[in-house]
Amino acid sequence: MVTASTADHPTRRDFLFVATGATAAVGGVVALWPFISQMNPDASTIAAGAPIEVDLAPVAEGQDIKVFWRGKPIYISHRTKKQVDEVRAVPVSSLPDPASDQSRTKDGHEQWLVVIGICTHLGCIPIAHEGNYDGFFCPCHGSQYDASGRVRQGPAPLNLPVPPYQFVSDTKIQIG
Ligand code: FES
Repeated sequence: MVTASTADHPTRRDFLFVATGATAAVGGVVALWPFISQMNPDASTIAAGAPIEVDLAPVAEGQDIKVFWRGKPIYISHRTKKQVDEVRAVPVSSLPDPASDQSRTKDGHEQWLVVIGICTHLGCIPIAHEGNYDGFFCPCHGSQYDASGRVRQGPAPLNLPVPPYQFVSDTKIQIG
C-alpha cells in the first residue's frame, strides 16, 4: 500500500490511498503505484522480509509516500531545503533522544528522510506534515516529531527509527 501527502497546502491536505487488489485508488498517486509495485517481489516474499526497492523519482519535493516493509509502514519524505536547514540548526543536546539529522540520513541525499512510521510511545501511526515541527504528529497522545523524525514533544521516548536502507541509484533506494 502507498499513501502520499503533500505540504503544498497546509490547510487543505490531500490523503491519497492506493492498494493492491480491489481497494479504490484516487488522484495523482495512481501514477506512482506502478513505478513502485513493479520493482518489488510478490506480497508473500515481502511479508517474509525480503528487501524492497522504491523509486523516488516520482516523489516531488515536499511530498511523502508510505510503503510497507515487513508489515511496517515506512515514511519516505522528500524534504524541502527549509526543512533540512531547520532540523540541522537544532542543538542536538536539546533533544529528548539526541541525534543529528546527519546521522539519520545519507550523505549526499540529505533531502530524503526514511523512517518507520510507528510512534515510539504506544505504537500508533503518526500523521505526516502535522504538528508544530513540520514533521509528524501522533494523534493518540500528542507526540510530535520533526522533519528528521526526532521526537520533540509529548510522551514518545524515542525518535522514529530509521530502517536499514541504501541508495542503489540517485533516485532509488533499497529498504532491508
Ligand atoms: S502512541 Fe503516539 S503519542 Fe502515544
